[in-house]
Amino acid sequence: MKKNIERVAVYPGSFDPVTNGHIDVIKKSFSFLDRIVIAVSTFPRKDFLFTGEERVDFLKEIYKGNKKVEIDKFDGLLVDYLSQKNINIILRGLRAVSDFEYEFQMALTNRRLNENIETVFLMPGEEFFFISSSLVKELAFLKGDISKFVPTIVKNELVKKVDNVFEKKRRGGS
Ligand code: PNS
Repeated sequence: MKKNIERVAVYPGSFDPVTNGHIDVIKKSFSFLDRIVIAVSTFPRKDFLFTGEERVDFLKEIYKGNKKVEIDKFDGLLVDYLSQKNINIILRGLRAVSDFEYEFQMALTNRRLNENIETVFLMPGEEFFFISSSLVKELAFLKGDISKFVPTIVKNELVKKVDNVFEKKRRGGS
């Protein structure tokens, strides 16, 4: 009898913060995956708005009780993380042509680093094509309505974060 092999992929990213675009990619991936490991990059970068823990916690809250989704973090090379998890598929969302060069470069670099690892791209629905974490943060700082672009929990925390930043600035902090 043929053994059922679990189809599983790692979906890596900064998720600073997770958007409805990411969530749509994850949802669509279940048409060909059994399970997904969302791997939050916690390699320190000075432009992150949310801490690694905060970014992980959003995802944990959103996927609470969902057995098909594991939330994890990594801070080294992505290919090493995949080897450690014994997974050989990277899932990435691809929105527009502007994403392509960066994604192409990353996929080929990762393949060079480990030839057993392949990257699979998925397009989110058109309504999510223009959404990015950076755009959502910019909108939030400009007090725009972000409720259509991120889950409620993210929206509330983003509004709080922006208020904190403004409050810090008002008090003369950096
Ligand atoms: O959401 P992002 O910022 O586009 O995600 C980029 C990420 C985290 C997937 C990428 O920077 C990454 O894989 N970083 C880990 C370090 C690494 O393996 N770099 C070599 C691949 S080019």
